[in-house]
Amino acid sequence: MNHDKVEKNIGLMMVLIIVAISFGALVELVPLMFQKQVQDPIEGLKPLTALQLEGRDIYIREGCNVCHSQMIRPLRSETERYGHYSVAGEHVYEHPFLWGSKRTGPDLARVGGRYSDDWHRAHLYNPRTVVPESNMPAFPWLFTNELDGKHTADKMRALALVGVPYTEDDIARAATDVDGKYEIDAMVAYLQQLGLLLK
Ligand code: HEC
Repeated sequence: MNHDKVEKNIGLMMVLIIVAISFGALVELVPLMFQKQVQDPIEGLKPLTALQLEGRDIYIREGCNVCHSQMIRPLRSETERYGHYSVAGEHVYEHPFLWGSKRTGPDLARVGGRYSDDWHRAHLYNPRTVVPESNMPAFPWLFTNELDGKHTADKMRALALVGVPYTEDDIARAATDVDGKYEIDAMVAYLQQLGLLLK
């Protein structure tokens, strides 16, 4: 009787399908909201500095995260190539996460310290100079775009609102830390700190 109703009423059917499907997601997601392990920062985790934070925003603006994931899966093939698998506690200060899943280029979750600053500069200016077979785009404008730090403090305040532990001091210094630097400086500073805590 009731079943008949569901089968003949497409609206009701859709609602019930959505309820059924969301159960699957909720069963996976809700327990995570109560697990300490995924909420607590790992030891030594610090919020990004003003310059690194600007670098991260440029990383997003340029779409680096479209070709590069920042998430090492706990599989031998990944850990042998990229290092220790990613853990939730490394990412608690990140809003939004840049984990991704599409890898046109290699994962960058632990690229910090793997190359010198000069390597990164040469690579970002034109990837072909250091990796001849590379099909990564060049980003030469990072070398001429200057930062003024006008909005850096606001960004830090916004992050502080959602729990990133920036101090008043960090925020007060933000603009001067960034002012006059070039986008490439910010980008390299951001890349060089990725994943250092769990090598
Ligand atoms: C169209 C896809 C694409 C985009 C967009 C892209 N990359 Fe890449 N990237 C690649 C490929 C492919 C490689 C591997 C070849 C190479 O090293 O150049 C790579 C390699 C790298 C490496 C070296 C990683 C390693 O472990 O050897 C770094 C660092 C990097 N990219 C940073 C960036 C940054 C920063 C941006 C944004 C400014 C960016 N990429 C944008 C495709 C991309």
